[in-house]
Amino acid sequence: MASSTAAQAPAPTPPGLKEGIAGLYDESSGLWENIWGDHMHHGFYDSGEATSMDDHRRAQIRMIEEALAFAAVPSPDDPEKAPKNIVDVGCGIGGSSRYLAKKYGAQCKGITLSPVQAERGNALAAAQGLSDQVTLQVADALEQPFPDGQFDLVWSMESGEHMADKRKFVSELARVAAPGGTIIIVTWCHRNLEPSETSLKPDELSLLKRICDAYYLPDWCSPSDYVNIAKSLSLEDIKTADWSENVAPFWPAVIKSALTWKGLTSLLTSGWKTIRGAMVMPLMIQGYKKGLIKFTIITCRKPGAA
Ligand SMILES: C[S@@+](CC[C@H](N)C(=O)[O-])C[C@H]1O[C@@H](n2cnc3c(N)ncnc32)[C@H](O)[C@@H]1O
Repeated sequence: MASSTAAQAPAPTPPGLKEGIAGLYDESSGLWENIWGDHMHHGFYDSGEATSMDDHRRAQIRMIEEALAFAAVPSPDDPEKAPKNIVDVGCGIGGSSRYLAKKYGAQCKGITLSPVQAERGNALAAAQGLSDQVTLQVADALEQPFPDGQFDLVWSMESGEHMADKRKFVSELARVAAPGGTIIIVTWCHRNLEPSETSLKPDELSLLKRICDAYYLPDWCSPSDYVNIAKSLSLEDIKTADWSENVAPFWPAVIKSALTWKGLTSLLTSGWKTIRGAMVMPLMIQGYKKGLIKFTIITCRKPGAA
C-alpha cells in the first residue's frame, strides 16, 4: 500500500486470509501462552535492559498502560468518566480484555477470528471470576456483531495489521464507539512516504511481502494513512506516535525464548504455520532497523458528548 489514497480505497479481503489468520492463532496461541502468557503484543521498554521473562511481561502490561495514558483515558478514580463498556477488537486470548475489565470494573467484549482463542479466553475469564464482565467471541472486526454507539473505549492492540480494508476497519471502530468514546489503535505500519515517493522501494516491498506471507497480513499502510482515514471519518483529537524505539527489545527476546529447550520443543510440535512465523522473526528486527516498520499508536475520539 503506497499512499493515503490507496489506504482509503475499499480493499476486498483476499481469499483465504481470514481462514489463514484463524488457523495461525488456533495453532500458535497455546505455545505463545505457555511461554509468554496472556498478552500477544509487543512490550514497551525504556532503553535499559530487560532480561527475564518477568521483565518482558511487565513491558507488555506497560504497553497497555502507555496506550491508555497516551489517549488520556480517565482513571478508575474518576468513576463518572472512566470507561464502562469496552470492546477489544482482535482480542487474542483476551489479555487486554481481562486487564481493562479489572482495571475499570467495566464490561468488556472481545472479538477474534480464532475459535481456540475465544474458548481459551472465556475459560481464563471464568477461572478469574470475570465471566460476568468479559466475553470473547468469534467475529470479524470488519463486520462487528455490535450495534452502533455502544462502547466508550474501543481498543485494538496489534490487530489492525491483519485488516485488508483499513478504512472499513477504522469506520467499524468508529461505528461501535459511543459518542465521545475513545478509540485506540496500536498497530504495525510501514514508514510514511516522502513527498517525492508514490511507493515504498522494491527491496522494502519485498521484505514486507515475506513478513506478510508468514503472518497472514494483507497490504500495510503508513501512520499518515491512518490519520487521513480518521480525519475523513470526522473523528476528533487525532494523535499518533512512533513507538518503534520503545519496542526494540521485543523481537530479540521472542527469538531468544524460541531458542530455549521449551521453545524449540513446543515449536516443533506446534505446526507449520507457527514454524514459518518463527522463521521470519529476524525480518521484523531488520524492518525496524531499516526504519521501514513503524510501531504506531493512533488515538482519536468519536464526536459527541463524552
Ligand atoms: C497479534 S494478536 C493480538 C491479540 C491481542 N490484542 C493481544 O494484545 O494479546 C492479533 C489478533 O487479531 C485478531 N484478528 C485478526 N484479524 C481479525 C479480524 N478481521 N477480525 C477479528 N479479529 C481479528 C486475531 O484473531 C488475533 O486474536
